Amino acid sequence: MTRPGQGRVLVVAGSDSGGGAGIQADIKTITVLGGYAATAVTAVTVQNTLGVSGALPVPLDLIEAQMRAVLDDIGADVIKTGMLGDAATVARVADLLQIYGIPAVIDPVMVAKGGHALLAGSAVAAMAERLVPRAALLTPNAPEAAALTGLAVETTDDLRRAADTLLALGAGAVLMKGGHIPGDRVVDLLITPAGETRFEGARIETRHTHGTGCTLASAIAAGLARDRPLIEAVAAAHGYVAQAIRQAPGFGAGHGPLDHGWPLRGPGHGHG
Ligand SMILES: Nc1ncnc2c1ncn2[C@@H]1O[C@H](COP(=O)(O)OP(=O)(O)OP(=O)(O)O)[C@@H](O)[C@H]1O
Ligand SMILES: [Mg+2]
Repeated sequence: MTRPGQGRVLVVAGSDSGGGAGIQADIKTITVLGGYAATAVTAVTVQNTLGVSGALPVPLDLIEAQMRAVLDDIGADVIKTGMLGDAATVARVADLLQIYGIPAVIDPVMVAKGGHALLAGSAVAAMAERLVPRAALLTPNAPEAAALTGLAVETTDDLRRAADTLLALGAGAVLMKGGHIPGDRVVDLLITPAGETRFEGARIETRHTHGTGCTLASAIAAGLARDRPLIEAVAAAHGYVAQAIRQAPGFGAGHGPLDHGWPLRGPGHGHG
């Protein structure tokens, strides 16, 4: 008898002191969606809505030790990765994903919303060669899809072409995010070897989109960790993120955070 998913997600990502993205967004999202979040912190970033002003990478062996400590005791139904920082970390995390054989949601984070690099340029090849093949689901935005494939990604059709390349590199499925593609509709494409599912909605006019990518990937991971089918998990995550953007509390003078906790109060009931 197979054991049902128990909602455990191990998040391997960076800390965002501002609480809008990174590990903080991941923990809030997974918790509010009924899952259990454990973490392996890859870096401590000094960050608010205005940008990233400092970062301390966590030593590689300490990242591995955190992952092993969680996996050898608590276990995980899904591993979600975010900011990894450099090629050595990408390779080590890829090795551990292979050793443990746990399905992985890989968010190939490269640049923060404010423009700060979160992955060394030299690590992009390692990500394409080592990590992409380990992804049950890869969630690139348009610039990340371009960097990983070497293709220009400026339209929804480009997303589709890049997806084919990423599947050929070994990803099990790809969610190509269209947030960076201009237009009054935002189109995300979920592409698997079995076909394509389109997730489309009106672009919400707001500057409060800090951490949308982390939040979306963690929401999907939380669903998969409860054994929800992929399309259902993505659809639910999409709805969760859209409402979290709509109810953003308006904190900070830059790219403000979402309202991760909206399901606790219900739609339409903001902070304060
Ligand atoms: N203004 C918006 N209105 C509606 N949906 C949005 C908006 N911005 C982003 N999204 C959605 O949020 C999710 C994240 O997309 P996006 O392309 O912004 O990811 P990202 O660049 O990785 O984000 P981040 O900068 O947080 O890492 C997608 O599902 C996208 O459709
Ligand atoms: Mg992102």
